[in-house]
Amino acid sequence: MKTYAGKTALVTGASSGIGKALAESLAARGANLILVARSADRLEHLATALRGKGVEATVIAADLAQPGAAARLHAEVERHGLCVDLLVNNAGFGKWGRFEGESLATYGEMIALNIQAVLELCHLFMPGMAARGDCGVLNISSAVAFVPLPWTAVYAASKAFVLSFSEALSYEFKGKGVQVTVLCPGNTESNFAAVAYAAARPRAPDDSAAMVADVGLDALLAGRASIISGNNKKVAWLPRILSRERVVALVGETWRKRLLVLGVPV
Ligand SMILES: NC(=O)c1ccc[n+]([C@@H]2O[C@H](COP(=O)([O-])OP(=O)(O)OC[C@H]3O[C@@H](n4cnc5c(N)ncnc54)[C@H](OP(=O)(O)O)[C@@H]3O)[C@@H](O)[C@H]2O)c1
Repeated sequence: MKTYAGKTALVTGASSGIGKALAESLAARGANLILVARSADRLEHLATALRGKGVEATVIAADLAQPGAAARLHAEVERHGLCVDLLVNNAGFGKWGRFEGESLATYGEMIALNIQAVLELCHLFMPGMAARGDCGVLNISSAVAFVPLPWTAVYAASKAFVLSFSEALSYEFKGKGVQVTVLCPGNTESNFAAVAYAAARPRAPDDSAAMVADVGLDALLAGRASIISGNNKKVAWLPRILSRERVVALVGETWRKRLLVLGVPV
């Protein structure tokens, strides 16, 4: 994929944060948008702003953590007569704190959204993309995908799935007209922290959502399988230079202290 101009991009989690920034950057680069999230009002607001800039924007409100949601979204896209050239799997959430402090229902929802929906949307959209060629998939993982992260264990494991899955697909689809790229952001300006622990003290983001979005979109055009945005590359190196035991102790202790400062009980 060499350009986004004239392409149709479906962005999940487009109502806020990194997803909204991805949609805005894609629109600025000449793509038409299919905007997906649960908050129809926020998506409509964004769609109106994008249409004002000459872009076609379609809103499909969906809760992607529900069983069958990905198939319903795929059918809805076809009902609109649209063809997806770029699939952006961005919707996701995490939780900070003790493992036993969250319910199994919350962890189930996290796995359904962060893993199952990504898997299903790739499976539904990628065959058509490969048949047409000149298409792409941008999956949003995290810098924490490279390490196990105590007090955020399920989220970090879910993002490890996205990283591994995406890199494998990137190789499998090489030369088949579908560029698969996985973007691993660090602490980025968005609603993520408020969702991860509602009562946490404000945490200053290291990176802007707009910068992170552009890093991911540029990496896909450059044919990269993976990219880490911002100053977060050290974490990917840790498992190459330390034992797994040392890595988990190091990141776990650093993260535990940071969570205590944020007011999250650990
Ligand atoms: N911000 C960071 O520091 C950071 C770091 C690494 C990775 N990430 C990853 O970046 C991605 C975007 O997160 P963000 O930081 O931009 O957080 P955010 O501002 O909270 O955005 C999350 C997006 O996902 C949507 N969403 C949540 N649950 C959904 C569901 N069940 N069905 C459909 N859409 C749903 C939300 O919209 P609705 O509420 O309207 O549904 C929202 O648009 C996530 O995959 C996250 O794991 C973020």
